[in-house]
Amino acid sequence: MPNHGTSLFAHVGSRSAAGSVASLDGPWRAIIDPYQTGYIGLTGEPTPRGWFRDFKPRTERDRIEYDFDRSMVLQVPGDWNTQHPELHYYEGTLWYRKKFTVSDPEAGRTFVHFGAVNHTCRVYLDGEELAFHQGGFGPFAVELTGRLSPGDHSLILMVDAMRTPDRVPAMRTDWFNFGGAHRSVSLVRVPDTFITSAWLTMDRDGRVVGQIECDGPNADAAEATITIAELGVQLSVPTGQRFTIAEEALGDVERWHPGRPTLYDVTFSIDGDQVTEPVGFRTLEVHGTDIVVNGEPVFLKGISLHAEGPSGGRRAAGPDDAATLLQWAQDLGANFVRLGHYQHDEAMVAEADRRGLLVWAELPVYWGIDWTNPETLENALEQTDELVLRDRCRASVALWSVANETLPGEDRTNFLRSLIDRVRELDDTRLITAALFTLPGQGIETHIDDPLGPFVDVIGVNQYYGWYYGDRDDIPNLKWSSDFNKPIIFSELGAGAKAGHHGSPTQIWTEEFQAAVYDAQIAMIANQPDCAGLSPWILKDFRTPLRALPGIQDGYNRKGLVSEEGERKLAFETLAAWYRTL
Ligand code: GCU
Repeated sequence: MPNHGTSLFAHVGSRSAAGSVASLDGPWRAIIDPYQTGYIGLTGEPTPRGWFRDFKPRTERDRIEYDFDRSMVLQVPGDWNTQHPELHYYEGTLWYRKKFTVSDPEAGRTFVHFGAVNHTCRVYLDGEELAFHQGGFGPFAVELTGRLSPGDHSLILMVDAMRTPDRVPAMRTDWFNFGGAHRSVSLVRVPDTFITSAWLTMDRDGRVVGQIECDGPNADAAEATITIAELGVQLSVPTGQRFTIAEEALGDVERWHPGRPTLYDVTFSIDGDQVTEPVGFRTLEVHGTDIVVNGEPVFLKGISLHAEGPSGGRRAAGPDDAATLLQWAQDLGANFVRLGHYQHDEAMVAEADRRGLLVWAELPVYWGIDWTNPETLENALEQTDELVLRDRCRASVALWSVANETLPGEDRTNFLRSLIDRVRELDDTRLITAALFTLPGQGIETHIDDPLGPFVDVIGVNQYYGWYYGDRDDIPNLKWSSDFNKPIIFSELGAGAKAGHHGSPTQIWTEEFQAAVYDAQIAMIANQPDCAGLSPWILKDFRTPLRALPGIQDGYNRKGLVSEEGERKLAFETLAAWYRTL
């Protein structure tokens, strides 16, 4: 089902006007509803008396068979799986309720903004359904204007984490299907005409480009002002269309560079509204098989991450998790992070901006997708909008990835080309990539000829020589070639090890085994001229239902360079030592 009643709202944290953002984070009441009793009546149709009405008995005879006030409490933001033992593997329907009080009469417009809810979310206010959103990792907003008279209000969400073949992602992922409102929820007050998306960046030719989108009665007439106080810059620009500012108009702007991040507070304002975003100015392009930033080839010393917090095996959220995880990446010597396999928290990308880390951002178009289903494509496009419009202002974002390990085929390639077209339409200043699937058993020489190759700027290659296939001793001599004369990033490589488990390098699951695979992979990459970088899989062990070996995996993928509690393994230093030489 397509999203309805939702809008894309790219700025919450950057709204500084007093009283413009009220957090709804904290305790919410919740009811587990595996049979959707709160939504479906006896006839099997949606019932008008569903739990979203938040009814209370009015007489001693009233039969109401639910009560939010006496149900469990869930903290938002947070996955539900790690908050209550009975929810650990739960993937069904769960109701959230937050009561809040409005004290002053409405002024302007009010939206409720969700950082992300996995996977589908129906939004009700005071018993009325306002919106439906699907997609577990992107932001969305729902307008409440005109419904917030002074007094108490009941915001109810019907959330469903059930995996279905037509979803994005679909039935199987090598990550845990954490359900629920795992990112922040806010009430955002804006004027009648307000800025929905403000973008400023530098394109590959050094031109400063951007676009400001507004919504409201005066959106079309709106003229915008861009102010960069530090540069003494104040410029008028049109709204609703792409604009270009000559770089000299910014004076001696200092470039944002990996490792040397310079950010300028840019205030975008229209009559009555303004947002301020930190912006870094840098050029990003491909020269043959090199990735070039500000005219210099950069080797991407990377690491991959899932959005799991530094401990506890839970969904990551907020600036503290982001700072810890990206500090670990920088301790490794990384200048690049692959935020796999879906859109990470806004705080993560903002932190990468501040730390000067280049980012590979990604859509959860992962493994088997229903390539021929129009609604699946429509939702993938909606998730593409959420990914690009939220973060195209972030200097750290260098690569938009449209897929991970999807088997080549005509329907798949057409589907992915639609996503690529949408990304380029929204942002043609960044590089487009995908993590391609290299079929094992091709021997020493691997020729990459994925039909998607002509349509991406950078070729991502996932390969697990020395773990899933191939002889570790062959790895240093492996050769990779492609028809595309484009940069290759080894977007995944690695091996598993249980932290603290030691033995010979030939003994699987030992830290020594993992480190030996890294030694061999490093030797291979050193001999691979058109390799522009790597993002080994993965920084930290992470939860997944696919990994069941007792005493070793216990529900975790063990390819992390640190354990799920942050203990470093030998391979961490193996990689860090090499990165230090580059
Ligand atoms: C695949 C996949 C990852 C997975 C990894 C693994 O390449 O992209 O999501 O976790 O391999 O097998 O560990």
